[in-house]
Amino acid sequence: MATSKRAASARARANFALVKYWGKADTRLNVPAVGSISITLDALWSDTQVEFDERLATDELSLDGQRRADQLAKVSACLDLLRERAGVRARARVTSSNNFPTGAGLASSASGFAALVTAAAGALDLKLPPRELSVLARRGSGSAARSVFGGFVEMHSGRAADGADSFAEPLLGGADWPLEVAIAITAKGEKEVGSRSGMERSAESSPYYSAWVATQGNDLRAARDAIAKRDFAALAEVSERNCFKMHAAALAATPPLLYWNGATVECVHAVRRLRGSGVPVFFTIDAGPQVKAICLAEARPRVEAALRDVPGVLDVLSSRLGPGAELR
Ligand code: DP6
Repeated sequence: MATSKRAASARARANFALVKYWGKADTRLNVPAVGSISITLDALWSDTQVEFDERLATDELSLDGQRRADQLAKVSACLDLLRERAGVRARARVTSSNNFPTGAGLASSASGFAALVTAAAGALDLKLPPRELSVLARRGSGSAARSVFGGFVEMHSGRAADGADSFAEPLLGGADWPLEVAIAITAKGEKEVGSRSGMERSAESSPYYSAWVATQGNDLRAARDAIAKRDFAALAEVSERNCFKMHAAALAATPPLLYWNGATVECVHAVRRLRGSGVPVFFTIDAGPQVKAICLAEARPRVEAALRDVPGVLDVLSSRLGPGAELR
């Protein structure tokens, strides 16, 4: 009997939200409770190969050279959606690697799932428009919907019961406002409470969660407007406010979610001091202890040097803005 093998590889980059996704409207379909706005980075990526093979009894996943049974269910569920579209039953061998630490609050699930759906659609020869890839990537991880696109990206929470209008779309190309990012690594290793359970806990128990959801529309408008006008000071203000609101909701959960360490807080002070002295820079922090400093290109060497000087900073990565997911 003839066996058919279908394979493709894709690269997708990490993205950091400036206006954050935190909380779900629908857990099964992974529809976010709020919209979000992000930037896609150039220097942090996932490379993923997907090979459908009729001889396989189950899907297989290797991440950074290690079998990851713990991540397989999410990956298989995402692949099932693509198999269904293509009318294919074959299981797949997925080999993925990140050029940055996995699960440490550097958006590895965003780049990972965006690369996965792009490669799987390519392997199955499905000619899907990016918006549909974004919907599929969302099913794997909400933030992954944004990594399908490059530059400045907005994710819509959507209203449709089936989640069909919950996708990301590009707002502005990275070349149109070439911001840069310096990332202070303050701890290595995978984080204790992942985003998924962190946001669930916040929604269930934080008294500030409803205020977080209710005020997100204002922040999205302010960020959209700041990006359209390339108004750095306005983007800095809304991004830092939104980051602190997300963490305030998380800190007030039971049990509390404290993602920061001492160096995280020192980096925040360092960024604020720099801005006070006229350097165009602001910070954001996700569900982990790393601090992402976003700045105008000319300020990046200074920002990087200042973060390196903060006690407890182990390393500083830097990146420009980057493109969307692509087959390779
Ligand atoms: C703090 O996209 O990882 O990084 O949809 O459950 O996989 P799931 O969550 P995920 O959450 C990202 C949360 C965040 C903020 C953001 O990226 O918007």
